[in-house]
Formats: sequence, C-alpha cells, structure tokens
Amino acid sequence: MLHEAVRHQLIDRARQAREAAYAPYSNFKVGAAVLTATGEIFSGGNIENASFGATICAEQVAIFAAVAGGCRDLTALAVIADTPDPIPPCGLCRQVLAEFNPDCQVLMANMAGQWRLVNLKTLLPVAFRLPGREKGAGS
Ligand code: THU
Repeated sequence: MLHEAVRHQLIDRARQAREAAYAPYSNFKVGAAVLTATGEIFSGGNIENASFGATICAEQVAIFAAVAGGCRDLTALAVIADTPDPIPPCGLCRQVLAEFNPDCQVLMANMAGQWRLVNLKTLLPVAFRLPGREKGAGS
C-alpha cells in the first residue's frame, strides 16, 4: 500500500526527473523516483551514450543515487514514460532493485496519468542471489 499523497509525490518526482533525462538516441525519456524507509526520495532519468551499451536506465540512476546517498532501504520505486500503458521496469532494473529490496513496491505510470502498483516479487519472482548472500544488500 502507498498512501495517495505519497503516490502523487513519487510520480511527480519521477516526472520531474524525466525532464532531465538524456536520451538523444532513442528519444525515449524515462523518469524514476525511489522512496526510502526514512521517507527520503531520490530520482533520476535515463542517461544514454553513443556507445549504446553504456546507457543507464532511469530506475538505476534513481536507485544508485539513493545508495550513494547512504540509503539502501528502498520501500517503493516509481517509473514514468510517455507510453500507452504504465511503463514496467526492464528486467535488468528489476534485478538491480531486488538487490536492495526484493519486496519493493513498484509504481508504474505514464504521462496520461495512468498508474499501476505491483510488488517486485510479482515482476521478478525468482531474483538471482549470490549463494551465501541470500539476505541481499538491504539495510
Ligand atoms: N529505459 C529506462 O530508462 N528504463 C526502463 O525500464 C526501460 C528502458 C531507457 C533506456 C534507454 O535510454 C531507453 O529507455 C530506450 O530503451
């Protein structure tokens, strides 16, 4: 569950971050925002590169901003793009998020105002974990 006010706040922050996305190759701008257990929000947009494989998704920019800021306890992640349906995070981003919280709430949204809330476990039921590190990197 995400309170309505928090949902709006997260989507707003993701939408703002999308404006700063650097996507000259795909022209597909994505924004993301993560909510931490202490109520902080970190955000980011996708950042592309002429060497396409060096591109980083919006979700990862937001997640890494939180981790770099000392917050690993991620409660929810919002992602937004100009898509017909609320945008689901790519498989790589699901794995990156699962490193910190396999039980994270994922709020998918689009620019038309539609949204869908799912648990990461639904999107990635069997995340990879290094044997011996089953507890993951969350707080
Ligand atoms: N992209 C994201 O930022 N997040 C996703 O979950 C899917 C894809 C970006 C990467 C690339 O810059 C552009 O969208 C097209 O794939």
